[in-house]
Amino acid sequence: MRVVFICSEYEGLLKTGGLADATRGLATALQQLGHQVEVIMPRYAALYQLPMAAEWQSLYFDLSGYPYGCAVRHLEVDGIKVSLIEHHDFFARARPYDDGEQPYPDNVQRFAFFCKAALTYLQRSEAPVDIVHGHDWQSALAACYLKEMAVEALEHTKFVLTIHNAAYQQGLSAADVRLIGLGNWQLPNDFHLSMLSLGIWQADKINTVSDGYRQELLSEPAANGLAALYQMRQADFVGILNGCDYGRWDPSTDLSLVAQYDATNLQGKSLCKAELLRQTQLPKLDLPLFVAVSRVTGQKGFSYLIPALKRFLPQAKAQVVLMGTGEQQFLQPLRLLEQEFPSHFRLLEGFDESLSHQVEAAGDYFLMPSLFEPCGLNQIYSLRYGTVPIVRATGGLKDTVVGYPAAEATGLSFMQPDATELFEAMSQALSLFDDKKNYQFVQQRGMQQVFSWQQAALSYEMLYRQAVSAS
Ligand code: ADP
Ligand code: GLC
Repeated sequence: MRVVFICSEYEGLLKTGGLADATRGLATALQQLGHQVEVIMPRYAALYQLPMAAEWQSLYFDLSGYPYGCAVRHLEVDGIKVSLIEHHDFFARARPYDDGEQPYPDNVQRFAFFCKAALTYLQRSEAPVDIVHGHDWQSALAACYLKEMAVEALEHTKFVLTIHNAAYQQGLSAADVRLIGLGNWQLPNDFHLSMLSLGIWQADKINTVSDGYRQELLSEPAANGLAALYQMRQADFVGILNGCDYGRWDPSTDLSLVAQYDATNLQGKSLCKAELLRQTQLPKLDLPLFVAVSRVTGQKGFSYLIPALKRFLPQAKAQVVLMGTGEQQFLQPLRLLEQEFPSHFRLLEGFDESLSHQVEAAGDYFLMPSLFEPCGLNQIYSLRYGTVPIVRATGGLKDTVVGYPAAEATGLSFMQPDATELFEAMSQALSLFDDKKNYQFVQQRGMQQVFSWQQAALSYEMLYRQAVSAS
């Protein structure tokens, strides 16, 4: 099949979180299955430095009666063609969605433009496109434009929407809807109008990134007001668990690490821990090290992680390293904690791919106490790196980590999103760490887990086939 991703992030080009890992991991696995995959994304400021193919196109189209133009440039990443929608005013910005504090006020217009430009480009293709595969709200409107444009070249093209995070919807006012040329579209049943909800309504098939999260989206509050819409589309809505790109996330080949290791020899892992402690000037090699790499947002459980740390750190029984960027409301108290507990807590502010691998490898435990988690990739990476994950049993975390003391345990888990349960799970982790034999048992079992993109790609292939045969 000819499959075209419309997405706003792609690992190696632009990444703010797991969306980038997922688009690249899946595109690569689909291509390996023999499909012809192309990726369309905006040309953000950082992408102006990359060498492009000599051939490029210009496009002209209208959005709500106004004429627009853009260029389409091309490059290749791992044998996959990536086409970049270039519009200087809309996309040549350092950050994709916000100025560091506030979302850009023209996000609706920017991403409506992106969707329409992508389809305008595709309608010129010589080979027919079987599937346009959108990812999250940024590309959801392509579902509507595909129907509205009704051009011959895309007459048989089906639209599949993957919801990586249902909390980000990009709401639409009546004025917005007119601005993006969808003034005649009326969602049934007074469903909340957003870029995501229009996409869910109009996509041929929908999926989210774990079965657990799919189940949660069928009711409130997880559905953020869209439960009735997910229920309406239930027959076309499935859960497909993300995979892990073990080519990039495997401690036995990971060149970001000072030493490589695997489940049969963990000596390298001790060296990674010693190196991170040296870099962060944390003094105690023998204390368990708890780490996290995370967007610092409400989703990731910081509202109860911070109070749990306030109880945990004074005991001085462990060291904690948190790496992330995000909201000041959480970063500020974390900075204060670092001042208060300089020999037990370090906050590494910044977004750094290589350091994120080093932190993954260095920890004895990985904290991922998310309030909600569509899939989560860091717990999957942690399993492979022998960094026993401590997760809240929600969404994809529940589907990928079995909590101790179950016989099949690969990590620790807790239920309620509150500081007490998280603190108890962290305390349980301290006891388990002292019980070396059992700790190693859980760690080894985790390292043997396999969450492959190849497996996920087979499920997407089936979804594509269903979309195509439904016509
Ligand atoms: P989400 O997409 O909700 O942020 P995931 O667990 O699916 O959560 O994926 C997060 C991805 O972003 C992982 O690849 C993780 O390593 C990466 N990441 C998060 N914060 C940082 C950071 N500060 N520096 C580098 N990588 C980060
Ligand atoms: C989103 C989700 C995360 C998921 C990622 C990739 O960012 O928050 O749980 O793993 O997308 O699908």
